[in-house]
Amino acid sequence: MSRARILSQDELEIAANALKRGDLVAIPTETVYGLAANAFNVDAVSKIFSAKERPSFDPLIVHVPSNLQTINALEDAKIVDASRISPAVHQLADKLFATFWPGPLTVILPKHPAIPELVTSGLDRVGIRMPAHPLAQKLLSLCNLPLAAPSANRFGRISPTTPKHVDEELGGKIHFIIDGGPCSIGVESTVITVDDNPSSKEGAKASIWLIRPGKITKKELEDVSKNSVQQAKSEHEKASPGMLLSHYSPIKPMISIETFRKETSTSVMRQLSNKQFGLLIPSGTGLSEIEQLEKLGLIIKKIILLSQSGDDEEAAKNLFASMRALDASEVDMIIAASTPSSTGLWSAISDRLSRACKPWPG
Ligand code: TXA
Ligand code: MG
Repeated sequence: MSRARILSQDELEIAANALKRGDLVAIPTETVYGLAANAFNVDAVSKIFSAKERPSFDPLIVHVPSNLQTINALEDAKIVDASRISPAVHQLADKLFATFWPGPLTVILPKHPAIPELVTSGLDRVGIRMPAHPLAQKLLSLCNLPLAAPSANRFGRISPTTPKHVDEELGGKIHFIIDGGPCSIGVESTVITVDDNPSSKEGAKASIWLIRPGKITKKELEDVSKNSVQQAKSEHEKASPGMLLSHYSPIKPMISIETFRKETSTSVMRQLSNKQFGLLIPSGTGLSEIEQLEKLGLIIKKIILLSQSGDDEEAAKNLFASMRALDASEVDMIIAASTPSSTGLWSAISDRLSRACKPWPG
């Protein structure tokens, strides 16, 4: 296939027709670009897995238009199975939708039989998200279909936050990319499961389990649910096979500064003496790392600072593009410094960095 055609906001009709035909379209969202297909069409969805080279055990998120903001509306649209949702979960989910949708929150709920098993990798629950990007919403209402869409990168690689990144990742494999400019948030949605919780200490009947940190923080979710949000473990972790894998990886080896510090013996430093390093520094407070690494004798060729002032939103927006820029530069290896905090969006940035970092090579 020739390279993808970039569509402007005035050409959404072309994209909507392609989706109705069962073709793939890369779409902008406020988090990252997604690779979309009609969620009800198994052949179309299978094209996502082949274009991304994604294993079939990693489930896809279904994106919905802004008129489906309640469990009842999602049931009528054949996306969730309300008969398998208890009154407590129903109430909590509706409250979460009213508060955070459209926006970067994906909620996992019992799936309607009309959602193909390929979308959910055989699981009986489906991840649903109502994106806030105006072009994504316009497209969803034009094609009048729920859209299954993972991030528009090859499997395991860095998520794209501009049309150019999508083209670099998948350009020869898809027909269309909608140009919605750079993504305003820059890291993927917060993914949660809402389910019954008979063992809740606070006596809540329905609880939230956090599967992937993102822009909507644990604290924001707790404020709405009036109940603690738990890290997904055991059965809920098993329900998200995709999160067990390494992700977001540059092609060049990227290691965390902690891993590097454990490896500064003389023999290791001798091996590294002719290597060129790139440094990814999340916030201005991490700039002191440069001098310390230079003192060890490292040749630092390129440094990218995500946010001088330590602003987590600015850092998130720059994260994936900066990883790409370091990967494309002449460096042999990338070192990622630590985030200055683990609250707010830093928690999502730190999660993506630790999944992208490898153990010590060799
Ligand atoms: O912001 C986002 O969420 C972006 C944009 C395009 O919407 N999408 C995205 O999709 O990041 P993806 O496929 O790259 O990551 C979604 C992750 C999957 O890896 C999987 O772990 C989890 O969400 N997930 C999706 N459906 C699930 C399900 N039914 N059960 C458990 N986990 C699920
Ligand atoms: Mg992804």
